[in-house]
Order: sequence, then C-alpha cells, then structure tokens
Amino acid sequence: MTTKLGSAKQGAADKSDSVTLTDNQTGKTYTFPVLTGTDGPRVIDTRKLYAETGMFTYDPGYTSTASCESKITFIDGDAGVLQYRGYPIDELAKHSDFMEVCYLLLGGELPKAEQKSAFVRDVGSHSMVHEQMQYYFRGFRRDSHPMAVMVGAVGALSAFYPESADVRSPEQRRDAQIRLLAKAPTLAAMAYKYSIGQPFVYPRNDLGYAANFLRMCFAIPSEDYVVKPSVARAMDRIFILHADHEQNASTSTVRLAGSSGANPFACVSAGIASLWGPAHGGANEAVLNMLTEIGSKDRIPEFIKKAKDQTSNFRLMGFGHRVYKNYDPRAAVLRESCHEVLEELGMRDEPLLDLAMELERIALEDKYFIERKLYPNVDFYSGILYRAMGFPTSMFTVLFAVARMVGWIAQWTEMMEDPEHRIGRPRQIYTGHNRRSYVPIAGR
Ligand code: CMC
Repeated sequence: MTTKLGSAKQGAADKSDSVTLTDNQTGKTYTFPVLTGTDGPRVIDTRKLYAETGMFTYDPGYTSTASCESKITFIDGDAGVLQYRGYPIDELAKHSDFMEVCYLLLGGELPKAEQKSAFVRDVGSHSMVHEQMQYYFRGFRRDSHPMAVMVGAVGALSAFYPESADVRSPEQRRDAQIRLLAKAPTLAAMAYKYSIGQPFVYPRNDLGYAANFLRMCFAIPSEDYVVKPSVARAMDRIFILHADHEQNASTSTVRLAGSSGANPFACVSAGIASLWGPAHGGANEAVLNMLTEIGSKDRIPEFIKKAKDQTSNFRLMGFGHRVYKNYDPRAAVLRESCHEVLEELGMRDEPLLDLAMELERIALEDKYFIERKLYPNVDFYSGILYRAMGFPTSMFTVLFAVARMVGWIAQWTEMMEDPEHRIGRPRQIYTGHNRRSYVPIAGR
C-alpha cells in the first residue's frame, strides 16, 4: 500500500491505492481499493465487500464510514479546520457575506459582481410564501415549538410546488434551491410571530438577507424595526458559520431521504427534524437552559463535577464535538462576534455571558475536558448572541435551520447530480430470535 495523500485533483478521488484484508476464519485474502481525496484520510472502498466476502461492516454512528464523495466542505477536526469549497471559514466570515457564501456552496465558485447581484435578485424574488400558508400556520397551537412548526411548514412547501417532485429536472432542482433558500427566513419569522401572537411581517427585498430576517422577526405594523448594521452583520456571520458542515446528522438525513428520489422540500423537512435534537442543532437552546439552571458562578464547580460523573447523564452543553477534537474554528469567530455585539448593544455585563466565560475558563483548565479534547463548540456562543439579539431560546434551533438550509440544498443537489448515487440502505447485525413457530394466544 502506498500513501498518496493530496495526489488527487479536485474533481475525482485517486483510485490507484489498495488494502488487503485476511479472513482469519478461512485464511482467504481480499484486496480492496483505497481512495484518496484532495485532502483528508485515505478511504477503503468497501462497495464490493459483501459481494466478495459475504460480510458486512459494522459502524454504528458512522464514525469510520464515508457515505459519499463530496466537493463542498472539508473538515479536519484534529487541526480545527473548516473550509467551504476550499476557502477557510474564518476568511469567509471576515471578508465575505452570506449571499456570496450561498452562491459558493451551491455553484462551487465565488461570484463575480454581476453574478452576485443576479443571485441576490433571484433569491429576493422568491422570498414571499403563498398567502394560503397563513392558514396552514393558524392550524397550530400558539404554544407549539417553532421547530415543530418549521418541520411542518417546510415540508408543506411540497404541496405548493408539486412540480418540484420532478427531481431529475435540473430546472426544477434549481427552482427548489432558490425557493428553499428564499423562503426559509420568511417561514422562520412567521413561526416566531405566530408563537408570540403578532401579525406576520412580509419580506422586504431592499434589505440584505440577514437584515430582512431580523426585521420580519422584530418589526410590528405600528412600529418599524430599524436593523442595527452590527447586529445584521453578526447575524450574517452566524449564517456563514453554520451554512454547511459536511455529512452531519441532518445533512445525512437530507441525503438519505433524497436518495429515494423524494421531493426536496420533504427531504429538507426531514433534515430539520434531525437538527432539532439536543446533540445536534438543539444544543444552543440547551446551553442557555443550562446556563440559566447554573445561575451563578459559585455553582459552576457543582455542574462541572456532574458533567464528569460517569454515572450521571449530564453533559456540559456546548462542549465537545464528534469531529472537532480541537477548538471549533466557528466558535473562535463567534466568540469575537459575541463580544462585539454585546458591546454594541450595551450588554457587556450580561450575567449569562459572564457566567459562560467563567464556565469556559474552568472547563478548559480541567483535566477531564483536556484529556477528552472537549472544547466549546459553535453552539456555546451562538445561544448567547441570539439571546442578546432578542430571540427566545425556543427560536435558537430555528435560526440554525435557516443558516443550514443552503448546506442541505447544496448537498442534496450534489447527490442528485452524482451518477453513482443509489438509494441509501444500511445493513445490520441481526441479534434477535432465530426462526421460531407461531404460538396461538391460548398457548402463550
Ligand atoms: N460534557 C461532558 N462529557 C462529555 C461531553 C460533554 N459535553 N461530550 C463528550 N463527553 C465525554 C463522554 O462522556 C466520553 O467520555 P468517556 O470517554 O469517559 O466515556 C468522551 O467525552 C467522548 O464522548 P462521545 O460521546 O464518545 O463523543 P461523541 O463524538 O459521540 O459526541 C457530542 C459528540 C457533540 C454529541 C458530545 O460531545 C455532546 O453530547 N456534547 C454536548 C452537546 C453539544 O454541545 N452538541 C453540539 C454539537 S456542535 C453542533 C453541531 O455541529 O451540530
């Protein structure tokens, strides 16, 4: 076996490498190709494993399994690297804006000026939702969790655009991409407005994507909401940082749902459901709930102790990551934004931020967290920022969903355009009963 890391050109995985496995039971040896991408670890191609050996691989949680080939996002968790189409996340967060990043993720290259303005116009022209959607919202209880409403509302778009079921049509796929991207903030703001009993606010296309979203959330008919540029910029930055994260749980859900040829609105709705969980997008809400529960700095040691206790289920929310075993590069950018926005809003002494900083300090010095490489993740700071902007905790995961929409669409599109894509169908190790005969009820 030879290592050819980095030898493949962008566009194809290198296929000249191989690995040989020996079955200790039969003594037979099998050779499998080893694929090399443009970056990242080498990958054993096990597609023919079952056909050749009669065995499956076992990998719950997919910690060692690449489910697809992708050109969109690269993560090196050990080095704390995140790149969209090759561009480092911190450079994009500093110099770019969300619309440009969307164009990049969807199309592969940064736009020229005229391409960018055409794209922004295109997204703007789809930002309204069908007026009938209002009645759909009115069917929910006012106290429904906005994520429950989002799962339903995004899935319901399938009913408004039945032509998007033609997933083989590039034109239909393009329309669905733009519609999802354009309508996500409108639906998210509607979910929020509905939950607080205020009228829906229509989008305004003269505002940027983030500013328009903030206005739809916070304006009321009797008083417009003047969006502070620094707050809009922080929101835009949050959107950039969350836009894609390769094959995470929600993205894999979108791909798996889409692998059957399902309508893209329904696939993304499945992704939103997956994002909702506290181990994924729900973590930012859980961070705020945890900080509120801790309440004061003197109670931090008690919670750290609980997090380290192997017999307790409690985890320090906002710490640790499946992929990053180093500082989450998104958390580093957001930490800075968090301070800037709180300064701008005159909330520098916000007690929860103070508490969060102290928790971060203590955890980063603790042997347990150091040994397990548990660093603050992006959710640790995003929750504090959302809170400062005026969002209730129940909206935090919705904001994540708005930001991640472009990643889901880009990944779904890449899969649909991949000639090698097949329906996703994992296998299992069966550990249930062997065959047994049916016993009539009287004899059980
Ligand atoms: N607090 C305390 N201990 C932890 C934590 C934590 N937050 N996270 C992991 N550990 C411990 C865990 O108990 C285990 O210890 P041991 O080796 O002694 O058994 C060790 O660290 C490894 O944990 P793991 O469960 O094998 O790690 P994982 O990769 O399966 O889990 C995670 C990753 C994100 C689910 C987990 O770290 C966690 O539950 N964190 C809190 C929730 C959170 O903040 N989630 C947001 C993730 S970032 C947003 C996103 O990208 O979606």
